[in-house]
Amino acid sequence: MSIIEIKSLSVDYALGQNGVLHALRNVNLEVNAGESIAIVGESGCGKSTFASSLVKLLALNSKAAGQVLIDGNDVLAMTNRELEAIRGVKAGTIFQDPAASLNPVFSVKEQIEETITAHLKVRDKVELKQRAIKLLEETGIKETQRVYEAYPHQLSGGQQQRVMTAIALSCSPKILIADEPTTALDVTVQAQIIALLKRLKKERNLTLILITHDLHLALDLCARIIVMYAGEVVEDAEIKSETDSKHPYTRALFEIIPDINEDRHEFSVIPGEVPELKTVMNECYFRNRCVKAGKKCSESHPEMENGVRCFYPYTKGRLKA
Ligand SMILES: Nc1ncnc2c1ncn2[C@@H]1O[C@H](COP(=O)(O)OP(=O)(O)OP(=O)(O)O)[C@@H](O)[C@H]1O
Ligand SMILES: [Mg+2]
Repeated sequence: MSIIEIKSLSVDYALGQNGVLHALRNVNLEVNAGESIAIVGESGCGKSTFASSLVKLLALNSKAAGQVLIDGNDVLAMTNRELEAIRGVKAGTIFQDPAASLNPVFSVKEQIEETITAHLKVRDKVELKQRAIKLLEETGIKETQRVYEAYPHQLSGGQQQRVMTAIALSCSPKILIADEPTTALDVTVQAQIIALLKRLKKERNLTLILITHDLHLALDLCARIIVMYAGEVVEDAEIKSETDSKHPYTRALFEIIPDINEDRHEFSVIPGEVPELKTVMNECYFRNRCVKAGKKCSESHPEMENGVRCFYPYTKGRLKA
């Protein structure tokens, strides 16, 4: 059974005098328990909006439509009280900037233990400490006792992200949502956090939702890749390498991100601009930047078909007739 089922999810942001911005448009997705999926795409395509929708942590000026079912229950229809039973308990979250996500005025001890008390109603001090220390050990913290007593600013970026992960896992959620978990960290620490996520995913049999602009990181951690463009899913497929991908946008993402195995280290960008998110157009949103764009692309909007939203998808390296 799917642990997450997303039906026709759309999220708009009200821009006051400037109308409405369509950040997510009609997203449909099913995720099985234990599956790992990556959501990839350029900045502004709606990745974080998607992550926030899963636990209904949306901005006040947002309006969501559709359904986000976790274990069959619609998160978007839940009251704050009902959401308490979801956040942290069914789905833990870690974000890009651990320093901003941790509360600077509370110690690690207080932040982990408060989460456990709030959700699992454990109040025994000895048990709380045991649980906290075990979580810190599990996330690879070396000086557990010092980190346990420390305040966030006394920790390195890598330690902070491990603490965030410990908090996210403190109530044993089945789902872990990680929004750009390594972007703010330096390269060595990034690799350590990736190794940690891999290990935790396996040991805890987590359903991992990884949000990243880094396609190679996505390929490293997840078998299934969901590519987003202008608030839409444009490809949803098992992708191991460039030739598995069918959408010209996915191919373009492969081209701009240097492969660490190749002797090519410069970063480039996909030429052209992401379309205006304020309008709904009866055309393909990627067509102005697409090397394969044809007549149909400006005449109607492509629907998802066989995991790809494109009139002229690639088939194993070649263009469909
Ligand atoms: N509260 C808000 N009010 C208005 N617009 C918003 C709000 N939050 C996000 N947006 C806009 O919605 C779009 C999608 O934003 P989102 O943060 O989901 O993108 P993203 O893919 O996570 O980008 P990044 O890779 O930069 O993190 C962007 O154009 C963004 O500017
Ligand atoms: Mg984001």
